[in-house]
Amino acid sequence: MRPSLATAGAAALVGTALAQSDSVSIKDADTGFTWSSFTIDEGLTFRIAVPSPAPANASFDAVFQLIAPKTIGWAGLAWGGGMTYNPLAIMWPNGNDVVLTSRMAYGYYTPPPYPDATYTLLKKASHVNATHMQVTAKCTGCTRWGDDDIGITQMDPTNQNFMAFAYSNVPVDEPANPDSTFGIHDLIGHWVEDLSQGANPDFAALVAKNLGDSAGTPAPTSSPAPAPTASSSSSAPTTSTTSTTSTTSTASGTTKPTGEACPAKKTKKRKVQRQF
Ligand code: HEM
Repeated sequence: MRPSLATAGAAALVGTALAQSDSVSIKDADTGFTWSSFTIDEGLTFRIAVPSPAPANASFDAVFQLIAPKTIGWAGLAWGGGMTYNPLAIMWPNGNDVVLTSRMAYGYYTPPPYPDATYTLLKKASHVNATHMQVTAKCTGCTRWGDDDIGITQMDPTNQNFMAFAYSNVPVDEPANPDSTFGIHDLIGHWVEDLSQGANPDFAALVAKNLGDSAGTPAPTSSPAPAPTASSSSSAPTTSTTSTTSTTSTASGTTKPTGEACPAKKTKKRKVQRQF
């Protein structure tokens, strides 16, 4: 199986010196994590925290956080900076809960479940309120992927990495089902994330601290920092209304996509998008 041009290009550039990061470093008092954080104009914030030290040539666990308006249909984080052949964390609201699912795309259709990356929801740092959802989860298997066929990609915990996001305002087909199909994005974007900005020497302790039930736990009051190139209108939830659903995907299929063909709809691209 051959990688798409987009993925091949991004993979080839991993580890090389990039010009400038789009992310900023934030210490979030609520969770205790120090994040590498990226916010877009549309009010979505993507954050990553990594252990310090982390191995340079082996998979390491990482924690990501998404803060997004509750009105979105779904949002996704592409750990390798493109749609195909890299781990995707896909999230959507389901009433006052949030569904989180591990996927990998092998073409431009609904990405099927990807069992090689697993997510552990950090419930104390995951909240839904009347306007926003906040999802915080540890991923095992998101920082190194691939095989002899498509090549191995290793994220650099001390340097810049290509990331990508996508989201749609259209709800997924079955919001309660982590394996649900969904349609194409309304917006995609790429950015350069400096993971050294999200280094956490006390990573394991912070993961342990944020595990557990969010019910009754106050949501964070800090606001996501604006991205260097864009102002933000987003804010973190201020009231926790429910616990969040842990939805690590349990489906096993990884190689035979069965999703629908790409709908004929134009996707917008963010200004920060870079051509790799
Ligand atoms: C049903 C689901 C999806 C469909 C039908 C779909 C379809 C497509 C299509 C047709 C393109 C090419 C657009 C162009 O060249 O103008 C594209 C690009 C892209 N998609 Fe998706 N997509 C889906 C889900 C996702 C998800 C879940 C992500 C997760 C982050 C994602 C991320 C991207 C990105 C970053 C690009 C830009 C090209 C690249 O960097 O690979 N897509 N998608």
